[in-house]
Amino acid sequence: MNTLSVNLGHRSYDVLIGAGCLARVNDDISDASSFMLFDSNVAQYADGVYAEHRMPFDASEQTKTMLSIEQICQTMRASGIDRSSTMIAMGGGVTGDVGGFAAASYMRGIKCIQIPTTLLAMVDASVGGKTGVNMKSESGSLYKNMIGAFWQPSLVVADVTTLKTLDARQLRCGVAECIKHALLGNDGLKALLQEHRDSILACDESTLIQLVTQSASVKKDVVEEDEREQGNRALLNLGHTFAHAIEPIEELDLYHGEAVAIGLCAAASLSEALGLIDPSRASDVRGMVSAFDLPTSLPIPQPLDVLLERMQSDKKHMGAKNRFIVLNDAGAEIAEDVSEALISLAWTSVGATRS
Ligand SMILES: NC(=O)c1ccc[n+]([C@@H]2O[C@H](COP(=O)([O-])OP(=O)(O)OC[C@H]3O[C@@H](n4cnc5c(N)ncnc54)[C@H](O)[C@@H]3O)[C@@H](O)[C@H]2O)c1
Repeated sequence: MNTLSVNLGHRSYDVLIGAGCLARVNDDISDASSFMLFDSNVAQYADGVYAEHRMPFDASEQTKTMLSIEQICQTMRASGIDRSSTMIAMGGGVTGDVGGFAAASYMRGIKCIQIPTTLLAMVDASVGGKTGVNMKSESGSLYKNMIGAFWQPSLVVADVTTLKTLDARQLRCGVAECIKHALLGNDGLKALLQEHRDSILACDESTLIQLVTQSASVKKDVVEEDEREQGNRALLNLGHTFAHAIEPIEELDLYHGEAVAIGLCAAASLSEALGLIDPSRASDVRGMVSAFDLPTSLPIPQPLDVLLERMQSDKKHMGAKNRFIVLNDAGAEIAEDVSEALISLAWTSVGATRS
């Protein structure tokens, strides 16, 4: 089993990564009452962890809401959960974000243990303390992660054997976030992805342990440097400005990791257009993405003006400035005030159409 220690002063914690290590959680909760929120699709793993109280959760972006938080808190209250208790959130990123936010809010905050069961949650969502839910807009669409809190877990246990039941498409989505982490400047992770593609997709345990360890370690380093995203933590959003514009378009039917994969390709084109990387690096990015059968362009072409408009409104509701995370020779950097012409070029490189 590998251990990563996330060093954040009195909020420090370990991330344990192994095969068959779920029961390790029991060492941490033996004395306190515990409440487990578990994704209904991973009920078989929930039984392996001791919890005094359990609540199944139908995880989706639609149930990632304040209504669920209220229901969870009501169930915790009825179960007698108090400030000395521990929340255990087991599932993918949705369950981790919801369980983490319930833990951050209930009685002004109780301890939280994260047990991620998707590759995406192991390498990304479970580490770093971002928790939260979506909010419905007046038109009924979702503002992603609009309400939330930074609430670091006290422990993260990633057991890669749970990935064996994960849908292959969901596994590839997790790989998209690993590619993002590799592009931030981790050559060892890049080599692992390039040399061990087949073992990763076949869920070979020791390869997955290495992949999760190296990828989560990139996130750990960034979080340690900038816990509250006031600076370089924004680099973790590489590809996401583009991804957020296309992920909600229903006809595209894209999972988050697939939208990120297309976003990484668009960010690579933008970086090339800005003269920050040479064309071979941009094509390298597309090569890494397509090697895992992730999309490098929009499955159905979309009008450029619609995508630019979606990007603008996303920035507006997030209160963000007109800035992009772009690649450079060392990894990535923040580019401010990028011209619309260059953004358009990046979009057309992934299949947007000019009218
Ligand atoms: N907090 C953060 O820093 C952070 C970072 C990245 C993403 N996120 C959030 O994470 C969410 C996406 O996470 P996700 O991709 O894990 O999605 P998810 O939680 O929806 O899980 C994907 C699907 O896999 C199922 N599943 C989970 N584990 C399984 C297993 N072991 N076997 C079989 N099925 C399993 C789930 O029930 C779900 O249907 C988004 O809401 C995103 O906003 C948060």
